[in-house]
Amino acid sequence: MADWSHGYVAGSTYGIAWQSAQTPAHMAMVCAAAGVEWRPRSSMTVADIGCGRGYAVNTLAAANPDWTVIGLDHSPVHIAEGTQTAARAGLSNALFLETDLAALDEAALDRIPLLDVAMVHGVWSWVSDEVREGIVRILARRLKPGGVAYLGYNALPAAGADLGLQRLLRHLAGPVGTRPGEAEAAAALAVERLRGMAEHLPLRQTPMLKRLLADPPVLEAAFVAHEFLTSHWRPVFFEDLCAALGPAKLDFVGSTNLFEAVPSLVCDGAQLEVMAKLPEGAPREFLKDLSLPRTFRADVFIRGGHRADPRTLESLLLAAAAPLPEESPVLETGTGRAAMPQPAWEAIAAALATGPQPLGALCALPERALHPLEALALLTGTGMVLPVYRPPERAPAASRFNIAAAAIHAPNGEGTGHFALASPVAAGGLPATALDLALVAALLQGADPEDPLALAQRLQPDLSPEGQQRAAEIIADRWEERIPFWRSFGVL
Ligand SMILES: C[S@@+](CC[C@H](N)C(=O)[O-])C[C@H]1O[C@@H](n2cnc3c(N)ncnc32)[C@H](O)[C@@H]1O
Repeated sequence: MADWSHGYVAGSTYGIAWQSAQTPAHMAMVCAAAGVEWRPRSSMTVADIGCGRGYAVNTLAAANPDWTVIGLDHSPVHIAEGTQTAARAGLSNALFLETDLAALDEAALDRIPLLDVAMVHGVWSWVSDEVREGIVRILARRLKPGGVAYLGYNALPAAGADLGLQRLLRHLAGPVGTRPGEAEAAAALAVERLRGMAEHLPLRQTPMLKRLLADPPVLEAAFVAHEFLTSHWRPVFFEDLCAALGPAKLDFVGSTNLFEAVPSLVCDGAQLEVMAKLPEGAPREFLKDLSLPRTFRADVFIRGGHRADPRTLESLLLAAAAPLPEESPVLETGTGRAAMPQPAWEAIAAALATGPQPLGALCALPERALHPLEALALLTGTGMVLPVYRPPERAPAASRFNIAAAAIHAPNGEGTGHFALASPVAAGGLPATALDLALVAALLQGADPEDPLALAQRLQPDLSPEGQQRAAEIIADRWEERIPFWRSFGVL
């Protein structure tokens, strides 16, 4: 390991995996669901602490030209990529600061602007105690009173099953170099060795082990390197995270999985009886962590909150973000499956097909059959809707970013990662594949939606004419399905 990395794998670029929950707009839904007053301001400062390659920073900056969005990371590779993408898209409100979170003296802390929102996704359970302390110091000193924080982390007890696997992979990888590509090579070697011996070892058959052994491989070497080759990876109990955040005076608001705010969607009847016997707060959250098989939690906290007007939840404006199926979508909670009564779903889908709707109006269809929180949990948890913050107008910065993202990540319509298209309407990102990036960029640059073959020929010049024809059909289908949503979210 490099001296500067505090045991974190250095010299390796992390993957891109856009999280819809890692947006102030989603945090506002979590607050509304918990009855806590908070919503994004038209002008505010947001930080992504441990920002990786800066995709979230640049997406948020592009979608919200009046916000300042700051990415902090110690990796020069990550900071360089984030900065270059921001420059290419002309995002003067996206700032990247090369920062070692473990080495922030008072002056360095004070150079970070006061924050309305601080996000820390996939960092806490990866880093040493001194880095964690640095995160808490930023939150304590720079998060404004009334500001919100998002922390996404590997959670106990479920993630504990992978602790032995992580240690084994580190032994199998041997010493990890810090030059470009060395961590990925070490990760690939460790996985290859694991494949050769897994059947002889008494390993827990966790979902992560299955993903590591999948053939053909499903995990990128960079992901494996960051996930398994860091020295300090250890999942935490929710309540221990809360205790560690104490100096920042943060109050827990809720999980970004909105269904977790509805205990009956997490626990069965007998478990609910047990829950009722436990004190409110951390003990009940622990019971949820015991019940749910998820290894990752993402939580929203607030630095001094107020009770919200009870009508806030019902006034949330929602829009369809994907084609709505005829049958009610089903939310897999990990402990069960939840769906809406079919007549309610049909009424809601019909209303959403006409444009954005307040949650309260959707729940009144038909005959007030739905509880707003359950409806919101189901609609957002299945990716069917996103919150709407602005009228459907395009923002030049969002278009510039979407074009730049396509050129960088999907030059031929292909690329690895979970991307987003910057959407001024959503004040965040619309989940997108690499092909989506290329299709939107082409339209923004004047491609004719009636001529998908021309785009197929440009993206894939080496394909045979038959191959290009097949590619054109895929493009035509995707355009037909997605263009209405890209328009309604201000992407086109
Ligand atoms: C697992 S990655 C997550 C990246 C990003 N948040 C995401 O979700 O895509 C952890 C990030 O923490 C950064 N990191 C680790 N130790 C750090 C430190 N001491 N100071 C600043 N950043 C650090 C890494 O460079 C890496 O980008």
